Amino acid sequence: MDKGPVKLAPSILAADFARLGEQVAEAEQAGADRIHVDVMDGHFVPNISMGVPIVHSLRRVTDLQLEMHMMISNPDFFLSEFVEAGSDSFLVHWEGNNNLHRTVQSIKALGKRAGVAINPATPAAVLEEILPELDQVLVMTVNPGFGHQPFLHTTLPKIRRVGQMIEELKPECELEVDGGIDEGTAPLTVVAGANVLVAGSSIFGVNIGVCAAMHRLRNAINCGGH
Ligand code: DX5
Ligand code: ZN
Repeated sequence: MDKGPVKLAPSILAADFARLGEQVAEAEQAGADRIHVDVMDGHFVPNISMGVPIVHSLRRVTDLQLEMHMMISNPDFFLSEFVEAGSDSFLVHWEGNNNLHRTVQSIKALGKRAGVAINPATPAAVLEEILPELDQVLVMTVNPGFGHQPFLHTTLPKIRRVGQMIEELKPECELEVDGGIDEGTAPLTVVAGANVLVAGSSIFGVNIGVCAAMHRLRNAINCGGH
């Protein structure tokens, strides 16, 4: 199924938090499809990042969809709080969730888009039963917890496998990748089947500015991805 142009989801983990509004506005002007918000609790992953107050502030400065990547131990406890703050979608991890189907149903009951994320060591096969319920699948291309890590090339065959499963089970489901995405690795993931790319460092962590960085990434995809 043709899902149209590849979408870019800048991850604000790499942004300058003192200038967050400005940087998100720049990403929006440069054609960002959505803003990816990495929520970490220091327990599910060995790092702490941001939560509801940031979403609340972002909601006031952008009309873009706000996508929550929930790297926390009990996402169910916090869903409605995030929704009240202005979140539009949730990516919840397969790992450590004994009641994933319930979590996905809770997200949908709140009227929001639901996605499941899988870590590099988690096989694509775990998605089979839940996939028909999902709007998005997120294949982690680094181990979650930190920005600016090198892309794991071993995840490429898995992206391909997930792409095939999506075609068979839920063709309209998005296939998103997250971690180490830059102008070198983005085209590889697109060739493998990804249609939404999360990028932190390669958008907010470079000295050419957010707008130029987004264009550089998009050019790399257009030249190498098809
Ligand atoms: C990692 C996060 C990513 C991170 C990506 O746990 O899920 O979204 O911000 O950062 P880069 O693009 O720098 O790898
Ligand atoms: Zn993320």
